[in-house]
Amino acid sequence: MNWTNDLTQLLKIKYPIIQAPMLGVTTPEMVAAVSNEGGLGSLPVGLQSPEKALELIRKTKSLTAKPFAVNLFAHDLPEIDPAAISELQDRLLVIAREHGLDYNPVEIEKIRHYSYREQIEIIIAEHVPVVSFTFGVIDQESIRRFHEAGILLIGTATSVREAQHLESIGIDVITAQGIEAGGHRGTFLFDEPLPQVGSMSLIPQVTDQVKVPVLAAGGIMDGRSIKAAMILGALGVQVGSAFLRSDESLGIDVYKDAVADSADTETVLTRAFSGRWARGIRNTFHDEVEKLNLDYPAYPLLNDLTVPMRTASQKSQNKEFTTLWAGQSARLAKSKSSAEIFRDLVIETEELLKLK
Ligand SMILES: Cc1cc2nc3c(=O)[nH]c(=O)nc-3n(C[C@H](O)[C@H](O)[C@H](O)COP(=O)(O)O)c2cc1C
Repeated sequence: MNWTNDLTQLLKIKYPIIQAPMLGVTTPEMVAAVSNEGGLGSLPVGLQSPEKALELIRKTKSLTAKPFAVNLFAHDLPEIDPAAISELQDRLLVIAREHGLDYNPVEIEKIRHYSYREQIEIIIAEHVPVVSFTFGVIDQESIRRFHEAGILLIGTATSVREAQHLESIGIDVITAQGIEAGGHRGTFLFDEPLPQVGSMSLIPQVTDQVKVPVLAAGGIMDGRSIKAAMILGALGVQVGSAFLRSDESLGIDVYKDAVADSADTETVLTRAFSGRWARGIRNTFHDEVEKLNLDYPAYPLLNDLTVPMRTASQKSQNKEFTTLWAGQSARLAKSKSSAEIFRDLVIETEELLKLK
């Protein structure tokens, strides 16, 4: 028995272990390190201009000749109501200033959003082999264009219904994201309360209900959890928090330390930073915003407003006013190079599954 399965063959990789895209944390160096080891690195370009996305893709290609994925945000762009946004910004500024954090607010008229549709051209032109997406579903025309270019598509689902929907529109691989997962929820069907299904429940139910390969995401940190996910029916795993403390992570020191020290109960789901549900280590900003009982604007408007605050917070190594996205198992993350972290995942799993 070896690692080869339908997923490794589809993605043309040696090990069905995908480094999860983590906007703000993942670097081309992290992506390339994982791909060079035989996994699939994922480069997040959500919210980025096509020019920036191109730069990141080219940088990654300069570091690896192996397949890697580019990750898109598939949400629709919101209308901007300058008066409402300005009022919201004023409320955030009060919180920041009360806590002694000084930064220049966003100039609302300069806010510019980029759709994933603006990134498609360059992804096809750069011959990226795999595209993953979250925060929604890319449209039929985009699916057709990617497929015509031979690009494989991975969609994110947080419930069986979402997984079935992705399969029904022709998505090739589904990431089943359990509630343990760090970062934003990929939820896109909003006609029922936010799905909060843990990986242990989600993976077998999704794999029973769809025929396409399923990747397990959420709480996968070591050989034990990879083995568990595969026994539950996943053909592969998507691993995020395990790379938060890696040498190639953009996480600032206080973030990496908070991850190392995080208790199982310490991460929470919050909308405070972006307006969309995401899991991170609780901090002051989160608590203060929750108190405001906001009517959250459509993504990514709140995200736009919190960027300068987060940047200022990061510059001063202050972990209270920046995002500390992390999954429920984050304290198992190791401080090593991404290549070493990846190799540990492989070796531990091989020992447990007797794959060698
Ligand atoms: C810091 C951070 C940033 C993330 N950013 C993205 C992103 O840009 N795109 C995406 O599809 N998922 C993103 N996620 C979610 C991951 O893809 C994945 O679902 C999650 O990390 C898996 O759970 P784990 O953290 O327990 O491994 C992010 C997660 C983290 C921790």
